[in-house]
Formats: sequence, C-alpha cells, structure tokens
Amino acid sequence: MGRYAPSLAAVFADAAGVTSDQRVCDVGCGPGGLTRELVARVGATNVAAIDPAPQFTAACRERNPGVDVREGVAEQLPWANAEFDITLSSLVLGFMSDAEQGVREMARVTRPGGTVAACMWDTATGGMTMLRVFWTAVCQFDAGVEGESQMAGTAEGDIAERFRRADLTNVVGGQLTARADYVDFDDFWEPFTFAVGPAGQYLQSLSGERRASVREACRAALPPGPFSLDARAWYARATVPIEAVSPE
Ligand SMILES: C[S@@+](CC[C@H](N)C(=O)[O-])C[C@H]1O[C@@H](n2cnc3c(N)ncnc32)[C@H](O)[C@@H]1O
Repeated sequence: MGRYAPSLAAVFADAAGVTSDQRVCDVGCGPGGLTRELVARVGATNVAAIDPAPQFTAACRERNPGVDVREGVAEQLPWANAEFDITLSSLVLGFMSDAEQGVREMARVTRPGGTVAACMWDTATGGMTMLRVFWTAVCQFDAGVEGESQMAGTAEGDIAERFRRADLTNVVGGQLTARADYVDFDDFWEPFTFAVGPAGQYLQSLSGERRASVREACRAALPPGPFSLDARAWYARATVPIEAVSPE
C-alpha cells in the first residue's frame, strides 16, 4: 500500500486545505506517508501524529524527525481540546473499533473553525484497483467473502455522513485519485504475501493450493509487463462549529 502513499497524501492534504501556517494532527499515521507530506507543508514542529502500532510509530518517528509521534488510538487522543487547526486521518476510519468516537475525538482536538478530514479507499465499488483485483480473484473461489467492502468510510458519501452525524458543519465530500506503478506481476503480488492488512491476512489464512489459485486469478486479470493502477479514495472534510457565545 505504501507505494500509493505519496500520491494520495498530496491530493488529500490539498483537499483538506493544509497550508503553511497551520498546526496539524495525523491520526492513524502508520509508518508516516501522510506525516511526511504534512511536514513538507507546515514543518515538523507543527505536526503531531499517532498510531496504535509500535512498529509504525517507530518508523514514523525515524522518517519524520521533530514530529510529536505518540502511541495510541483515535478513540482516545492524548491532546487537549482545540490544539490543532486541522486533524486528518488517511485510510484509518475503517480500522477504528469505534469510528464515531474517533471522529468525535478528532473534532475535540481541533479548534472551533478548524478542519477535520478523512479518507478511505473505495473498496465498496471497486475504485481501488489493486484491492478490487485481489478480492475479485478471491470471490472466484469463495463467493461469500465480503473483503473490505463493508468497512467504514469505503462507500461514497459515508465519511461525509459520519461528519454530519458528529454535528460538524460545512461538510464537503468527494473523490481522490492516487496511482502506483508496477514493473511486473510479481511486483504486484509480493506485498500481499507480507500478511499485512485485511487482504494480506486473508491470504495467509488460505491453504497453499488456494493461495496459488488466487494468485493465478490475479495474474489473469492484469497485463504482463509494466503497468500502472489507479486507486480511488473517498474523502470528506468539515468544519468544527464555533460555539454560539451566549449574550450576557
Ligand atoms: C491502512 S493504514 C494507513 C496508514 C497511514 N495513515 C497512511 O495513509 O498510509 C491504517 C492505520 O490505522 C491504524 N489504526 C488502526 N486502528 C486505529 C485506531 N483505533 N486509531 C488510530 N489508528 C488506528 C493502523 O495501525 C494503521 O497504521
């Protein structure tokens, strides 16, 4: 997935409206693909990042010196109210155990008038080509597998709807397109064998014979030589409401 990170991070930061004078938070930072883009835009000392996986926080820290990288979850962010101008999460909503609480926490740590933004791959309608090829191949052998199609945020409009339910205002949603290049089929297939993410973990659960069948079905769906794949993500951004000040 990492090879999609630079192109997704750039279009997501643009869509969220990240500009040089802001203090920003990257929720579910992973190894720091988006964090790096944020550092380039606002400087390391204006970026905070958090992820529950210690190996990811270590990698994020190493790649982004000077960033305040913490270990923890979106549902319980360790920052005070209104610390950030923009709080973002890239490809994380669907992995949260309580996405509603995660969105509430993202809003809490963002100042009134500031921005909350999130994106997830379109795995509901197959716009993330790499994952569509994989799960379509899987379904040839086990039609009942739902793959990543039901995860939070993966359907058009779902993130925007979650933001409205959290009483955020000025909600804007849309799509982002990222792209990755592959030298050949093995280059495409190898990352699935690392047992990372829902697809990799599913593959690892299969017998060797079934794994080989899925591999061949993927191969049949792709061109032989160098190729590029598009990946669509759904995103939304919204404003944290400014509390009405009651007249004295
Ligand atoms: C697909 S990765 C995305 C990483 C990174 N944001 C990116 O765009 O490359 C999903 C990340 O969400 C993290 N994660 C899982 N549950 C989480 C939670 N409850 N709160 C915050 N992050 C979470 C995982 O550890 C993982 O790093």
